[in-house]
Amino acid sequence: MIDPATIERIIDTAEITDVVQDFVTLKKRGVNYLGLCPFHNEKTPSFTVSPAKGIFKCFGCGKGGNAVNFIMEHEHVSWPEALRYLAKKYGIDVVETEVTDKEKEKQNERESMMLATGYAQRFFSSNLNKSDEGIAVGLAYLRERGYRPQIIEKFQLGYSPEGWDIFTREALKNGYKEEFLEKTGLSVRKGDKLFDRFSSRVIFPVHSLSGKVIGFGGRTLKQDKNTAKYLNSPESDIYHKSRILYGLYFAKRSVVQNDKCYLVEGYTDVLSLHQAGIENVVASSGTALTVEQIRLIKRFTKNITILFDGDEAGLKASLRGIDIILEEGMNVRILMFPDGEDPDSFAHKTDSDRITRYINDNELDFVLFKTRLLNEDAKKDPVRKSMMISDIVRSVARIPDRITRMVYIRECAAILNIEESILYREAYEIRKKEAEKKLKYKNNDSGFKSPKTLPPAQSSAGMVNERETHEREIIRLLINYGSIELFGPNDETNEMPVTVASYITSELEKDELEMSNPVYNSILMETCKVISEGSVPSGKMFSNHPDTAISSTAADLLSSSYDISKIWKRKESYIETEEMKLRQLVPSTILAYKSFLVRQELKDTEDKLKAAGSEEAILLQQRHMILKSTIIQLAKQLGNRIVC
Ligand code: CTP
Ligand code: MN
Repeated sequence: MIDPATIERIIDTAEITDVVQDFVTLKKRGVNYLGLCPFHNEKTPSFTVSPAKGIFKCFGCGKGGNAVNFIMEHEHVSWPEALRYLAKKYGIDVVETEVTDKEKEKQNERESMMLATGYAQRFFSSNLNKSDEGIAVGLAYLRERGYRPQIIEKFQLGYSPEGWDIFTREALKNGYKEEFLEKTGLSVRKGDKLFDRFSSRVIFPVHSLSGKVIGFGGRTLKQDKNTAKYLNSPESDIYHKSRILYGLYFAKRSVVQNDKCYLVEGYTDVLSLHQAGIENVVASSGTALTVEQIRLIKRFTKNITILFDGDEAGLKASLRGIDIILEEGMNVRILMFPDGEDPDSFAHKTDSDRITRYINDNELDFVLFKTRLLNEDAKKDPVRKSMMISDIVRSVARIPDRITRMVYIRECAAILNIEESILYREAYEIRKKEAEKKLKYKNNDSGFKSPKTLPPAQSSAGMVNERETHEREIIRLLINYGSIELFGPNDETNEMPVTVASYITSELEKDELEMSNPVYNSILMETCKVISEGSVPSGKMFSNHPDTAISSTAADLLSSSYDISKIWKRKESYIETEEMKLRQLVPSTILAYKSFLVRQELKDTEDKLKAAGSEEAILLQQRHMILKSTIIQLAKQLGNRIVC
């Protein structure tokens, strides 16, 4: 843990323009600086830096924050990592707070393990490139497979010599302890002896996101059927297989630049594509993809294309596994290679331009692909049609975004030649069941995701965006009037009275909306918790909250006067308190927020349509239609006729 005083010093010292200028060219414009945003593609600069306020803000993509946030966002590192980066830049000594002995021991142990894996990597690499055996056996093999020296060097490939314990003995001689050789799985204990795990194998080191070697894959060069083709490091305190993707360390920059990540099966596919100039590629290394791995990719892009090299039977078997990617709200595409080819063999035959073109021409939207594939099957076997339909709907139902779900249902209904409403109903039932299941497990789960651990980006009057203005207004109403009854109890339906707080939370939950400001989200989450406990939240509860981000926001909103002129024009000539108008004010504020979001979404879709390929365009047009009709509906409800 970094000592709070050190954190303060770092934040005080880091000069925002200085920090940003290491990555972005800035030009002075009045009191601020202007440049091209590093977080999205743009031709005209909308990225501003305010030295006075110590913040950056992009008016194109909305990203903003202080110097620490900038480093986190730009270098894809955590809060403490960004602080350490800045401390180093400004020569500040990082004082760590006392950690418990147990924590210290764990930390030391992990460090010792990483020293051992780092040493092993250097040992294996030098063996591959410098020893007679390594050159004759390992290097010869890699060369024969077509790997050039730069790629061998970049991925730090190696060779573990033949013999029982050559590596282990050398490591011990160099002072690496048995304990850590064993814990990292580099050496295996049999009785009182230690042996090399990877002996006579070509070594593929696995890197952490920050580039440290944490594990290995070793490929045998023997044809023997009884020898496993690959041996991998075991799970350990530094190597959690479910949280690692092979190649991500080398891919992350390119993934962000291309806003897309290719997913392949194995080590050699990653290497070959890299060599062909395609660097936004990672491998799940033979295991089924985990949610953690998908979230790792999601930090860099929302677009994933699976490069699949199996046959149709293999593909059908793995369709289900892909649903978890949809569930994370990612756009999934799939690409089949020609018979008998995999990314590895394909990449060696051709160059980067042609592979990219092949991928772009042949990748298909996953849901539509699956629907067509299963539909072909069902044509041959009509009995299976209903099973197939629920299979497809199950995939669609996992998608978190409502409009995306609607788009797919329309398209799938057209492909399957059945009524949209049938699919809607089925998807609705599945989602309802899932939601109930989740509620049972976590009865506190409010539907709002917990806020990110980082403190909120500083915002200041001049730099608040429109979305936040809407959000602020909703939270202001919630904090000021949360416990006031909006609609009375309904005796006929046995319903409880609706308070301002319960109205707001249920309206937002209904459309699965999350606020862009993490503090507002925390406030909503707390509100849901209080409501689920059968109580009502009060303004005081928030202004006295232990989390200072919440308490200061609440204090600010409780003291803000009748200031809604930004959204609503005041026409009244007589004095009417805000409280008297809540029945109209609360619903319209929510509607205005939703309406704003849908409009943004519409603009976004229109932009994307301009650059879309033909299949994507069909989905986007559907989306466009749905959004337009949603806007009209919302406008009707709002009672004013702003139809764009
Ligand atoms: N794998 C593994 N253990 C095995 C076989 C495979 O861990 N016994 C993992 C490896 O990560 C491998 C991936 O599954 O990279 C894909 O397997 P495969 O296609 O057999 O290996 P390739 O990477 O294609 O290796 P090669 O081209 O050398 O055959
Ligand atoms: Mn393969």
